[in-house]
Amino acid sequence: VTQRADAGSRRSLNGTEPADLGRTGPWEQGSSLPLVRVENDRSAGVLARFPSVLGTSVSGRGALLAILERVVQPQSRIWLPSYFCPDVREAVRNSFANTLLALRDDPREAVFEMPTSRFAPDDVIVVQNLYGMRAEPEYDPALCQTCAIVEDHTHDPLSQWARTTDADYAFASLRKTFPVPDGGIVWSRAREELFPVVPNPQGMLEAIGDRVKAMLMKQEYLVGSGQIEKASYRAYEDSVEDAFGRLPHGTMTDVSAALLQVLPVDEWRAAHRRNFTFLAGRLRCAGFDVLEPRASEAAPFGVVVDLHDPELASHVRDGLLARDIYPSVLWEEAEEGVQGGFSKEHLVLKCDYRYDEFVLETVADVFLALAE
Ligand SMILES: Cc1ncc(COP(=O)(O)O)c(C=O)c1O
Repeated sequence: VTQRADAGSRRSLNGTEPADLGRTGPWEQGSSLPLVRVENDRSAGVLARFPSVLGTSVSGRGALLAILERVVQPQSRIWLPSYFCPDVREAVRNSFANTLLALRDDPREAVFEMPTSRFAPDDVIVVQNLYGMRAEPEYDPALCQTCAIVEDHTHDPLSQWARTTDADYAFASLRKTFPVPDGGIVWSRAREELFPVVPNPQGMLEAIGDRVKAMLMKQEYLVGSGQIEKASYRAYEDSVEDAFGRLPHGTMTDVSAALLQVLPVDEWRAAHRRNFTFLAGRLRCAGFDVLEPRASEAAPFGVVVDLHDPELASHVRDGLLARDIYPSVLWEEAEEGVQGGFSKEHLVLKCDYRYDEFVLETVADVFLALAE
């Protein structure tokens, strides 16, 4: 795969000082995923990597809600990670009258907590592989007999933990990690009953069509033909998020399923690992704290820099944005059970398959110039 966006980046970055980024041509780092050109079909596809896919959804939250529909009973309490995607928490709250409880999951800690003595029979416990950096937990076997364990692998759907898990159910949003307009899946090695195919409302399909349009236009913009303005693809980007907030979520579209068949995901995970080592190393050497992966085969999509200071984080973020480098903040909502104000003190610098050392060197230079 040759990502034309990268070719565009390389052209406009050549000979460019960090301070001039964004003034010399189309360049973006860290923002949403454009479509990619696929040059061969040697990939076995994403879905074939999972032991047993039981169902799909257009989104991660659709996948989780389908699982919860199946396992939640009137007496169940639903445990969600304390630091978690707010849209997902909101969707669960809107769909279930059951009590929601927080499972302490502090990004600064190596592991999330499993307060076994506080769990009751039929509770549903949702855990996540935060930033794709967590190691596979060892669950108390007694817990697995009485509660349902649901794992969220959105941040690294293809980790070893994800592919070999024995949890009752695992799910992931695929649209966040792979360049597809929609997509979420549910899999399990412990359960066999398939999830029904659910049609999407027309408004959802139209919004996903807009997302395809945005991804294509963004790809063209980054090539630098000069025919597409940034505002034109940005105008289409929000419609899918708006539909996801309003409409029921049906099964993953055939467009996304087909794209997932041909993406070279093994090469991409290797690129994540290489890029993470490079960028995290640069920042660590300069004295900055980055969160450390706990699994030896982790392939994080980003380097999470902990600046320990909200004003510094905000200053660096503004400076990066002004240079078309888009750090993400997962998540902006104040967190429960997490020490300090992590959400305001960190930035995630993307180091995914779109980038190489050349681009990441520039990102590191800009970051360090701002932060120091
Ligand atoms: C850990 C995690 N789970 C679930 C989701 C929800 O995915 P979707 O937006 O496809 O519903 C996200 C989205 O960012 C996420 O980060």
